[in-house]
Amino acid sequence: MEWILTENGYDSSLAATHGNKYLIGNGYLGIRGALEEYEKDQLVAINLAGIYDQVGDQFREPVNAPNALYTFCEVAGERIGLPNSEMVSHQITLDFSHGLFSRKTSYPTKKGEVTVESERFCCMEQPHMICMKYSIHVSEAMEVTLVSGIDADVWDINGPHLNKVKFASSSKEENTFELSVHAVTTEKKVGLHVQEISSLRILEDIIPDCLEQRKKQQYNHEVVKSEQKVLNRFTISLPANGMVCLYKYIGIYTEKDSTSYEKDNKEQLNHALLQGYGTLKNEHLEWWRKCWEKDMVVIEGDEAAMQALNYSLYHLITIAPRHSKSMSIPARGLSGQTYKGAVFWDTEMFLLPFYLYTDPKVARSLVKYRIDTLEGARKKAKEYGYLGAFYAWESQEGGHEACSDYNVTDVFTGRPMRTFFRDKQIHISAAVVYGLMTYVHTTRDYSVLEEGGVEVVLECAQFYYSMLLQKVPFGQYELHDVVGPDEYHERVNNNFYTNRMAKYTFDMAVELIYSAPKLSSDTQNKIAKQYGLSALLTKFEEASKRIFLKVPDKYTKLIEQFDGYYKLKDTSLEEVRSKIIHPKEYWGGAYGVAADTKIIKQADVVTALTLFRDEYEQEVLQKNWDYYEPRTEHGSSLSACMYALLACYCGNPDQAYPFFLKSAMADLKGGGKEWAGLLYIGGTHPAAAGGAYMTAVYGFAGLSIKEGSIAVKPCLPSSITKLSFSVQIGGKKYRITVTKEEAVAVLI
Ligand code: BGC
Repeated sequence: MEWILTENGYDSSLAATHGNKYLIGNGYLGIRGALEEYEKDQLVAINLAGIYDQVGDQFREPVNAPNALYTFCEVAGERIGLPNSEMVSHQITLDFSHGLFSRKTSYPTKKGEVTVESERFCCMEQPHMICMKYSIHVSEAMEVTLVSGIDADVWDINGPHLNKVKFASSSKEENTFELSVHAVTTEKKVGLHVQEISSLRILEDIIPDCLEQRKKQQYNHEVVKSEQKVLNRFTISLPANGMVCLYKYIGIYTEKDSTSYEKDNKEQLNHALLQGYGTLKNEHLEWWRKCWEKDMVVIEGDEAAMQALNYSLYHLITIAPRHSKSMSIPARGLSGQTYKGAVFWDTEMFLLPFYLYTDPKVARSLVKYRIDTLEGARKKAKEYGYLGAFYAWESQEGGHEACSDYNVTDVFTGRPMRTFFRDKQIHISAAVVYGLMTYVHTTRDYSVLEEGGVEVVLECAQFYYSMLLQKVPFGQYELHDVVGPDEYHERVNNNFYTNRMAKYTFDMAVELIYSAPKLSSDTQNKIAKQYGLSALLTKFEEASKRIFLKVPDKYTKLIEQFDGYYKLKDTSLEEVRSKIIHPKEYWGGAYGVAADTKIIKQADVVTALTLFRDEYEQEVLQKNWDYYEPRTEHGSSLSACMYALLACYCGNPDQAYPFFLKSAMADLKGGGKEWAGLLYIGGTHPAAAGGAYMTAVYGFAGLSIKEGSIAVKPCLPSSITKLSFSVQIGGKKYRITVTKEEAVAVLI
């Protein structure tokens, strides 16, 4: 199976969209689908996972590495490249079955036609390495200059993040050249080393007649350094139909990766040079071939759905932190610095299932990241006067809270707007518990509990317990002044989703306290000493029983999203949209167009019903779907998949289908929200990709796992005749195949 995305022709306004759509990556880094000659204005980025920096009091964000893909050509002293040069044809492609980006552009020049081709990939086996091939072909005899090196003047939203930039260059053996740059980040002074070894070849096979004459590979070479760039310039006289090709091996290491990071970088590149481009490419292709053999979701009857879903999986595979034992995934993956490269509830609620079933080690790394950032969550709870652990809404390394109290800029006044994501979106802690316990229940890898997982659950339960408000006359516990998943309605009381997730957290804490005797004696002693378990048990059991959960109305079967939601203006999405004055204005906040209406940003009650569907009659699920869907803007890419899933649980796969496609095509089609006020939020949408996977697996195939046993209940939409995929559950691997008539799970 080969999947190739192609874009013919050139439109400079699509540079940002293509950067996301044509992204390649390997979990350690992501490379936006930008052309080699692009500079920072075209949003070029080699985005690094897990390394952040802050300049002054601007938003802290992940670091983009110096761009060692930077390459262009000159003919007769004139620079040729997009967007400035005239071209006769241009094509970019992404072979997402193999993680290969390529481009081909032909330019008319005074001397004849010049065609530039390139290909690049991020090595999957060697996460610190990128390989690129760049060639220039000429129709007529002419002199060309190939310029290639490292551009340290990179795209930053709140940069520049790199200081003390030092370049070095040397010639290795014949036709082989080395360039490198060392820099340190502004805030934490982390060293970063980027090196390239490039090897130049004037291709004999294309120009057999010239074989003899070209044996010596004649060209002029010089190194040009400026403050921000170091470049090799090769000037070559090519005959008609001649071609010159540059192979680049690029290594990126930071001080966080190893203490001998420069040495390690050099060594891997020397080794790469010995292996050669072809061998490295074959290794890379083989990695992807094996990966798809294992993880492809096969859909029969609906080619478009199969392509869109596997394209989503491509993105999830591309951003998985396989190189780390404790790292999570930012909301915009490795597509740049938007959303501050921060980790949200997206990871646990939307991304985790894919990794759980296909690569449990990655799932463990995501879970471990939360365990290792517990300290940050404890600090945050304390800051607000609560007990336990309140996880960062936008989490960076060490659990650092990147979300500010003024997270959006008002488009009308240019003033910072008070937002309440940081302090009121308390459902984040429950999401952490949900992810951790789902991991434990699915894999039965109890070691994460021993490594701090128990503390995470108990501390999150403590947090909610310390927030409970007791309504004396009814003896019930409430949670006030929160923001639920629907961010357009701030500071509400008894958000159904939040209360239900808090109850879930209490229940998980109770489950763990009861099962504590199964833990190692060390862990048992540690938690007994730290917490006084029997008192906690009494508190959490009581809290779980008494926390107020809105019940479906006897007649309408509806569940109110929060206290007072029904009193809001019942208007249509169109009407709210018609009130917009500025295309980038924020719909929430005090004066937002949606704030006084029933229009919600994303699935809220529907998310809770999807998660806890077994507790409700089907009529409740359906009635709430019918009520909330027309009132949902789907202003977050997290929304559609929850509607798709719930529609499946209501037995309506055809109703689910368009929501499934919307999720699966979030990056393929583009066009999602790119602005929240004046904040750029564009990038890839891993949560939508994960949501599409969940819809296929949980919704269309009806997979469920109870006490380690799997059950499958097909619910295929009309267009899909057969669906099959592999899952790893409790250490066993199954291939599941469902058709409209039957479901088969085979142990593999
Ligand atoms: C959504 C959040 C989500 C975040 C990152 C926001 O627009 O409302 O629920 O976590 O984006 O994807």
